[in-house]
Parts: sequence; C-alpha cells; structure tokens
Amino acid sequence: MQTLGVIDIGSNSVRLVLATIDERGFFKILDEVKESVRLGMDTGPGGELSEERMDRAMEVFRVFSSLCSAVKADKVISVATAAVRSAPNRDVFLKRALDEAGLHIRVISGDEEAFYDYFGTVNSMDMSSGLIIDIGGCSTELIHVEDRKNMNSISLPFGSISLTDRFSLRNNLGDSRLVELSQFFKEEFDNVTWLKKVKALKIIGIGGTFRNIGKIHRKMNGYPLDVSHNYSMDAEEMNGLLSFIESSDLKKRRSMKGLSKERADIILGATLLIDAIADYCEADGLVISGCGLREGVSYEHVLGKRDVLMTDVLEYELMSILRRYNLRENHAIHIWKLARSIFDQLEPVHRIGGDVSKIIKTASILHDVGVSVSYYDHHRHSMYIILNSLIKGLSHKEVVMSAFVAALHRKDDVNIAKSEFSSMLQKDDIATIRKLGLILRLAECLDRRLDGTIRDVKLHVSKDEVRLRMITDTDYTGLEEAGLRLVQPLFRKVLGKELVII
Ligand code: LMR
Ligand code: MG
Repeated sequence: MQTLGVIDIGSNSVRLVLATIDERGFFKILDEVKESVRLGMDTGPGGELSEERMDRAMEVFRVFSSLCSAVKADKVISVATAAVRSAPNRDVFLKRALDEAGLHIRVISGDEEAFYDYFGTVNSMDMSSGLIIDIGGCSTELIHVEDRKNMNSISLPFGSISLTDRFSLRNNLGDSRLVELSQFFKEEFDNVTWLKKVKALKIIGIGGTFRNIGKIHRKMNGYPLDVSHNYSMDAEEMNGLLSFIESSDLKKRRSMKGLSKERADIILGATLLIDAIADYCEADGLVISGCGLREGVSYEHVLGKRDVLMTDVLEYELMSILRRYNLRENHAIHIWKLARSIFDQLEPVHRIGGDVSKIIKTASILHDVGVSVSYYDHHRHSMYIILNSLIKGLSHKEVVMSAFVAALHRKDDVNIAKSEFSSMLQKDDIATIRKLGLILRLAECLDRRLDGTIRDVKLHVSKDEVRLRMITDTDYTGLEEAGLRLVQPLFRKVLGKELVII
C-alpha cells in the first residue's frame, strides 16, 4: 500500500488530493483540500505573479506539505498550470516553493495539461466520444475524443480569471462588450482548424467552473443525488442555465443557490466561454466530469504509462469497492454469473428493453456491501453505500437503479415510488428495478452457501410457469429450495407466472 499526494496548482484554485493505492492499483481517497489562491489574478503587465498571491500560495503549500508529511505520503506530485507556466518570474516562485515548503513543482505545458485531462476523464467515465473542456483560471483545454481516442487537443491561453479581467466581467455583461467578446471567441476558435469539424457532440466539462454549474442546476431542480461526476444536462437545459447565469449580476450571483461565494465574480466570463463553444460546435448537452488533471496524473503514476487505458471503468470501480469492504469476491462474482444466466433465460418473460447489464453487474457484485455496516437490514445499507460510493462507470440513473435492485435482494420492503429518488425514474424503470430485484433474489437463494455449489440453473418457460432446475454436483438442495419457495409469491406477482422447482 502506498500513499500518494497530488497537488494541482491551478490559476484559480490550488488543490491537494491524498489517496492510498493498494498492490492491485486500487485507489481510496483519504483527504482533499482546496484553497482559492487566484495566482492568475493581479498579475503584472507581462504576466508576472504578484508578491501577495505568491505569499498566499506559499502559506497554502506549507499547509499541504504538513498534511502530506502527517499521513506519511510516499510520493507527492505537484503540477502547476497556466499562471505559473506563463509567468516570467516563475523561477522565483518555484524556488520559494522548494525552500519554504519543500515542494518540487513540475510546470506542465498546455499540451500536457490537455493530455492529463483526457487521461483522467476517459479512465473514469464510460464515454466514447465528446468534446472535453477544462476551464481553468488562465487557460482552457479542448480535447476532441472519438472511440475513447484523443483525436486532437489545444490549450487556449485564457480562462475564467483572465476573461473577467480583460473584458471587465465581474459584475455583468454590457451590450458593447458582448460584440467584442463574441468577436474574440470567434477568432480564437477559427484558429483551431480541427474544431470546425467537431459538431453535435456532448461537452464533457472539467474544473471548478463546470462542477459549480452542475451544482447550480441540481439545486434549481431539487435533484436528489448530490453528485457532481457524470451529472448531465441536455442541450436545452444547458442553454437555459447558461442564459440564467449570464443575465444575473454579481449581487444576484452572490446569493445564487449552489454557486460558491468564491466564484461569483469570475463565473460570468467562464459561462460566456462555455456558451460560445457550445454554439460554435452545436453541442448536444453537457456532462460534468469530476475527474481531470489530478486523476490523469494519478492514473499515470499507477499505470506507469500514458498509452494504456483502463479497459473497463466500472469493473475497476466495483473491484476496488469489494476490496475496500473486504467482501467475499467469489460469492459476489458468482451471484453476478447466476443473475445474468437467470436474466437471459427469462428474457421472454421479463421483456426488459434497453441495456441493463451494468445495473445487473453493480447490484450483483455489491449486493452484500451493506454487511460492513451491520448484518441486520444489510440490503438497505447496501443501497446507501451504492448511492454514495461515486461509482464512476455509471450514469446517475444507473446508480439509483442499481442501489434499489441491491436493496431488493433479500426483502421487498423498499417503496421506490415514494422515495426521494422517484423524480429520476419513470414507471418503466420502477418495473425494471422490481424484476431485476427478483432475479437477484433468486440468484442469492441459489448461492445461499456462498461457495458456488449451485453452478448454474436451467429455466424452462411455458405458458403459465417457469420450471427451475439447479445444476450442481450435490444431491442435497433442500437449503436452496427452502429459500426459493419463499420467493414464489413474489415471482408470481412480478412476472405473472408460477415458479416450479424441479
Ligand atoms: C485552474 O485554474 O485550473 C483551477 O483553479 C480551476 C478553477 O476554476 O478552480
Ligand atoms: Mg486546472
């Protein structure tokens, strides 16, 4: 087990994330600290970092360093982006960081920043194509992704702070500046030749600005899941929200629900930038990525290479949760196998449309995770844990559905329609959850011994009944049969057929 610290010295905020990494490369976040240092503000005419901002950064670095020592971090990787990158006095800054806080800072180029954004995102999201945008204080990276491949990228030399300063956007946007700003964006985008061909993709937004925009939207809609990563908006929702922020002055923004006080003065510039790119590329909505540069740097450290992508983001997540809670891996995997087999064989009966494979996988593998809270009512504890584990390869709806399916693996005592998450589900989704919950419960009855004795099942579907035969070498299956008999009434209720055990 090793402890890794990653310090991201952005032009607006400076962040430290501390995580442990086990022998198999699984991460667990230990701590995270963020300070709004604004290195990119009050810079000199040539982009020199100001004395005051540097002093503030040094204070923060000393705090971060002491935290890293306290947890005995084996390695601390510090990277600095635009503000430091373009500062003529950056050597003074780097030397001070080393002398005053013992930090060796690596200044990364715009291309490297774009690469880490890409690497951090594709390895933590189940996405195949999109336009990744990382808005920082003084730079903005655009990365075009197709089939998980990095097709093209660019780092543009402006961000939330520099746009705010240059176009005086602290309070609001006057009509005259709108023309000037639109002209500026158009020229900048026109210079990026490949950007013209990027059309109708989803924007995948990285950085504090995007996370905040997602939060404002969640608050506005009373969204029940307070999770940033993978929060999505369709094009209409995105445009509506951007216009709402653009039409609010500083006073209004300061009291806007979900918008951090520290960001109220610089969010307008960033919002106008997102709006301009979305227009230029006719974007098909927005997904927030909670992962970017810091995760990219961490994955490179763990994988040791830059060209290896995680083949299955969800699988990595589920395995890391299994290990974190010390669960029986064999039982979890066997339940998944049995559930898939039952699901496939019952296809003509359940008639579930759409791809639910990730929901089956997540609910099966994590169905027992609640035992780590308490054996009693563990199906409910599994539900909270799944809801709050920030499982990366799933959409929010898949998280909620998996949580409910896991909750149904022992008892039918969860009222989905009356839960706080009902606004995220349609009637059909609730029916699907109930059917998958039943399937998981059957699988659980079949591996009551937790040892794979029942290797598989054979199901024979006829008009009024489903006949179930266990495939096993043991000649005593009374334990499993007793469990299955208890599920017979629910089987009838959910699928409208008799379950006959033969
Ligand atoms: C950066 O400049 O990259 C970050 O500080 C982003 C932000 O807006 O906090
Ligand atoms: Mg950044």
